[in-house]
Amino acid sequence: MKSFQLIKVAATIVIGSLLLTGCEKPPPESVQRGYRGTGMEQLANSDTLAEIVAANTMPEATPMLPATGPKAGEIYQNVQVLGDLSVGEFTRLMAAITEWVSPEEGCNYCHVNEGFHLDTKYTKKVARVMVAMTQQANSEWSAHTGGAEGPGVTCYTCHRGKNIPENVWAADPGGPHPPGVMTAEQNISSLASVYTSLPYDPFSPFLEDDKSIRVAGTTALPTGNRGSIKQTEWIYSLMMHFSDSLGVNCTHCHNSRAFYSWEESSPARVQAWHGIRMVRSMNNDYINATTDWLPDHRKGPLGDPLKVNCGTCHQGAYKPLLGKNMVKDYPNLARATLYQAPAAEPTTEPEPEMEMETDSPAEDATTVSMTNKTSSASASAGAY
Ligand code: HEC
Ligand code: HEC
Ligand code: HEC
Ligand code: HEC
Repeated sequence: MKSFQLIKVAATIVIGSLLLTGCEKPPPESVQRGYRGTGMEQLANSDTLAEIVAANTMPEATPMLPATGPKAGEIYQNVQVLGDLSVGEFTRLMAAITEWVSPEEGCNYCHVNEGFHLDTKYTKKVARVMVAMTQQANSEWSAHTGGAEGPGVTCYTCHRGKNIPENVWAADPGGPHPPGVMTAEQNISSLASVYTSLPYDPFSPFLEDDKSIRVAGTTALPTGNRGSIKQTEWIYSLMMHFSDSLGVNCTHCHNSRAFYSWEESSPARVQAWHGIRMVRSMNNDYINATTDWLPDHRKGPLGDPLKVNCGTCHQGAYKPLLGKNMVKDYPNLARATLYQAPAAEPTTEPEPEMEMETDSPAEDATTVSMTNKTSSASASAGAY
């Protein structure tokens, strides 16, 4: 009996260590991304890379149709953003949108049998805002997305055949905790902070509000920098999200000897800086404007809509779809948007609601500890 137990223990040890050593096979490959000796290396496992390649294929585009002939705006009754497309281009885009967003439900995910011009379904109204948001991402934020030159973004970049993209976020009220215990909005393992116990909603302050993402002093002796540990924890939580969404190490963007230093960072960090501003604009100028018409099941626990973060487009790849150029087949999604009036109207309305939101989850840590930096400071440094 005793020897049987011994064998069991020995077997557990042997199998256990086999499992553990098996974790990192094949050995990771490393690519140097900065000066020698700075440790700016990207580690990758070829198995994981194969998975990422498989997950980032893109649907075949149908042949482009001529931009000549009558315009959609002249033929159809209720076309507000795509009016200057030819009828051929318009129909081709509708077919593509269906494949990207609602392949199973078809045209009627947005349309009703009574007529294509009717705005009966909220999904059609959201889709109209989404067209404008996509055009904006390509035209105004080309410093991040590459715009019309490519790779750019289409609906597929985020949706990938799903009604709602895989990675979205809403304000997080936090999980249950014993009464009287202050969670400080952290110390609970959360998906948003990539299973760390860092603050669990790094998105509201940084990807909706424009709280400063600066904390380090730039001089050896104290010269007025009031950045706190708490503030650093919020920033680290966001940075974990960056790394996780892009599938990269911190050193993809930073030289870790001086996280603050733009001179020692890689160009990717500057691109990320523009990305942060783009995401804020998507969430505030487009998605929050849909709050009023969204059904409750499309809202988060605090009643705000599902919003964009870095993972919505990137989905684990350093460039969405590994940098494949999709927008070249859909140039109408890459030009400046004509969509103006309807967006302006709802954004003025939900303002008080948004103030309430910032009051609740992100308030203490962000307003208390993050007031020492102004957004103009971050704008000028990032424009570097
Ligand atoms: C994901 C939502 C969505 C899907 C799916 C969709 N559409 Fe549309 N459709 C729209 C939006 C948004 C507009 C209005 C565009 C604008 O305002 O510029 C529109 C407008 C139209 C119009 C113009 C109607 C009018 O008189 O104003 C036609 C025709 C049309 N779609 C056909 C189709 C067809 C055919 C399909 C399926 C192959 C389809 N749509 C799938 C969102 C969608
Ligand atoms: C940057 C990422 C992103 C891009 C690009 C994008 N979407 Fe979305 N989409 C979202 C998010 C986030 C939501 C959830 C927010 C909401 O419902 O308002 C959403 C929701 C939707 C919905 C509502 C679906 C439902 O079931 O409630 C439709 C329809 C839609 N998108 C269509 C489109 C179309 C059409 C395009 C391209 C013209 C597009 N989207 C491009 C992120 C994106
Ligand atoms: C995709 C690029 C990227 C990755 C990956 C990334 N960061 Fe950052 N980081 C930035 C950008 C951009 C800023 C500045 C944002 C701003 O000013 O709006 C920043 C700011 C910071 C700051 C504040 C610097 C200061 O001036 O006070 C710290 C600290 C930081 N990052 C740490 C990290 C850590 C730790 C990781 C890995 C877990 C990481 N970062 C991963 C892009 C990145
Ligand atoms: C609307 C979709 C979209 C969103 C959202 C988005 N990105 Fe990107 N990102 C892109 C595209 C497209 C590229 C490729 C651009 C190119 O090749 O020039 C890119 C490229 C990058 C790169 C350059 C990668 C490299 O190594 O060259 C970084 C860094 C980056 N994104 C960081 C971020 C961060 C951080 C966020 C969130 C704050 C973010 N992105 C959100 C679409 C997006």
